[in-house]
Amino acid sequence: MSTSDNPSFAATSHVDDGLLRRDITFPESQKLYSQWAQEGTYDQMLHNNPKEYNGLIQFTAGMRNLYPGDKSVRVLDLGAGTGLSGEQLVSVGYTNIDGLEPCEKFVEAIKGKGIYKNIIGRPIEGEKSLDIPDDTYDVVCTVGCFCPGHIPCSGVLEMIRIVKPGGYIFNCMRENFLESVPEYKDRLVPLFEDLEKQGRIQRLEWTRYPNHFAGMDGIRMEEEKEEEKEEEGRRRRRKRWRKRRRIGGRRGRKKRRRRDGRRKRRGTRKRRRREKKTERGVQEEEEEDEEEEEEEAEEKKRSQEEEE
Ligand SMILES: C[S@@+](CC[C@H](N)C(=O)[O-])C[C@H]1O[C@@H](n2cnc3c(N)ncnc32)[C@H](O)[C@@H]1O
Repeated sequence: MSTSDNPSFAATSHVDDGLLRRDITFPESQKLYSQWAQEGTYDQMLHNNPKEYNGLIQFTAGMRNLYPGDKSVRVLDLGAGTGLSGEQLVSVGYTNIDGLEPCEKFVEAIKGKGIYKNIIGRPIEGEKSLDIPDDTYDVVCTVGCFCPGHIPCSGVLEMIRIVKPGGYIFNCMRENFLESVPEYKDRLVPLFEDLEKQGRIQRLEWTRYPNHFAGMDGIRMEEEKEEEKEEEGRRRRRKRWRKRRRIGGRRGRKKRRRRDGRRKRRGTRKRRRREKKTERGVQEEEEEDEEEEEEEAEEKKRSQEEEE
């Protein structure tokens, strides 16, 4: 079933018309979210509505088990929307939650709810796209945000960077997006697998469940950030960076290569000029020799004639 077959989306035609269109861009989807925020129907449609949005229930169930003892751990709700996912986190006991949400109108809606300690009003993009120190959160979780035109694959690297070693990355998404969304197709799963092979994260569990959203099945991906390997990797990257700085960095290397090229070309030009000069010199000398020989011959002839 697609969103267009679903009666509850009749009221929000923009969802139907394209929020989940496979080639939608980030600015386009943000515009549609703003409209949705203005309509004010998001919560009404999806809150406590497992028939429509079972992903939220699955998200909550998974998060409940993650830290059974200490719920004061630091959590980032990525793509907080109107705060429904944050509310769910509170409902299972979490008390120290930040929210990240790029849609201004949603941020306005969240502020009044008092769920989040801090609200970061921008999108997650590639590595280092967020002004958040390394190893900040115990959990970086997200539900319904790996969609067309939402979080790019490179967002996973940023999630890993800001989560603490031994902390968790948690993602609930529509399973078919792994195949139907060009950004994720043959990229998102291989990226997770590569990171697992590199020892940066470790798969805890990937669980499939029915009806993530609007009748489409979902997948819950739970990964742990590896403590040692990540630290080792970071040390290796730092070492490489220092070495690069010592020899002038990548840019320095480029500059040096350009400078060496210029020197070489200058040298070649000089050499050519010198050779030309020498060639010219040799030619002139030969001509002078010839002239001298001719003059000598003439003088000889003249003195012979005089003697006679
Ligand atoms: C379907 S909503 C889910 C909201 C909330 N998690 C929930 O379950 O109700 C997707 C949210 O992701 C946000 N989003 C889109 N691209 C994003 C990005 N690159 N980084 C963070 N959030 C993003 C959207 O603005 C939107 O609020």
